[in-house]
This record gives sequence, structure tokens and C-alpha cells, in this order.
Amino acid sequence: MKTAIYPGSFDPVTNGHLDIIKRAARMFDKLIVVVLINPLKNYSFTIPERVSLLSKATAMLPNIEIDSYDGLLADYFKERPEIDVIVKGLRATSDFEYEFQMAHTNKDLNPRAETVFIPASANTTFISSSMVKQVAMFGGDLSKYVPSEIHGEISAKLTAEFAEKKRRAQLLKNK
Ligand code: PNS
Repeated sequence: MKTAIYPGSFDPVTNGHLDIIKRAARMFDKLIVVVLINPLKNYSFTIPERVSLLSKATAMLPNIEIDSYDGLLADYFKERPEIDVIVKGLRATSDFEYEFQMAHTNKDLNPRAETVFIPASANTTFISSSMVKQVAMFGGDLSKYVPSEIHGEISAKLTAEFAEKKRRAQLLKNK
């Protein structure tokens, strides 16, 4: 039995992530999708919200587990000896340098932690969580970029976040 782990921020999960999840789920007996924290990023969704969105978006896939972890991926890997390999998606050469660095760091921290890269499907190479956030915050249509089951939830949260940001900016202007 081969088990892979697909780590990410998933803030929020997009059709690009779902493409990698579906294809990795066919390659491995089990795929663990884990929400991790990149301390350098500002997140819009809480960890429970991201886990819940991922669970809804992957409900049709039988061999998926969704989890979250507040620590290093290399340590999560150590805590779950059944995991064989880390899966990452690559959209373009711009992803490569960062992902290459992370793969080497993870292997340095835990020599058992090997990474394999799956190229994004051509129709999803331009989709990213930050692009989805911008489209949603300005009221654009998200339906082509995020799974249909969660598209309303994502739009509502991001529209409200942006309205709050604008309200605060206005308050500062009026001071
Ligand atoms: O979707 P992202 O933001 O590109 O995912 C990056 C993530 C969360 C997978 C990465 O930052 C991560 O692994 N965070 C946990 C801490 C860690 O192990 N960092 C790797 C060593 S640099």
C-alpha cells in the first residue's frame, strides 16, 4: 500500500489543487491532504475553514484523508510512518525554485521525506489561491476557478473580508 501526502496552505482550495488531488489519488492507494502554515503568509480562511472546504471539495474521492498540522512538514512525516512520499504540483518554472528549495529542506530535516512533482494540467496552470482571492474581492465570477460545491462559501467570505478592509481604510482616511 502506497500512501502520499499533499501539503499546502489551501487558502482557499482551487480547481488547480483539486486537479493534483484527483490525479495523485489515482496514483497512490491513499492520499493525505494536509493544511499547513507558511508563517510568511497572511491567511483569509481559518484552518478549520480550510479543512472543511477541502473535505467538501473532495467528498467524492474515497481514498482521501484531510488533516491539519501546526509544525514542520518533516515532523508530520515523522509522526506518520505510513507516508511514503510528498506530492507537490508545479504550475510553471516560477514555482520550481521555491518548491526545489522546500523539497531539499524537507529531505534535510527528514532523510525519508522524498518529494515527487506532478505538472499542473494545462487548463489550471494560471489558477492560484491569491488570484482567486483578488477576483472574489472585486465581485468577479469564481465558478471556473474553485470547486462548485464551495464556490458560494468562498465568495461570501472573501467579499465580506474585502468590505471590512475597505471600511477600515475609510475610517483611517477620515481620522
Ligand atoms: O500552498 P503553499 O502556501 O505553497 O504551501 C506551503 C506549505 C504550507 C506547504 C509550506 O510553507 C510548509 O510546508 N509549511 C510548514 C512548515 C514547513 O515545514 N516548512 C518547510 C520548510 S521551509
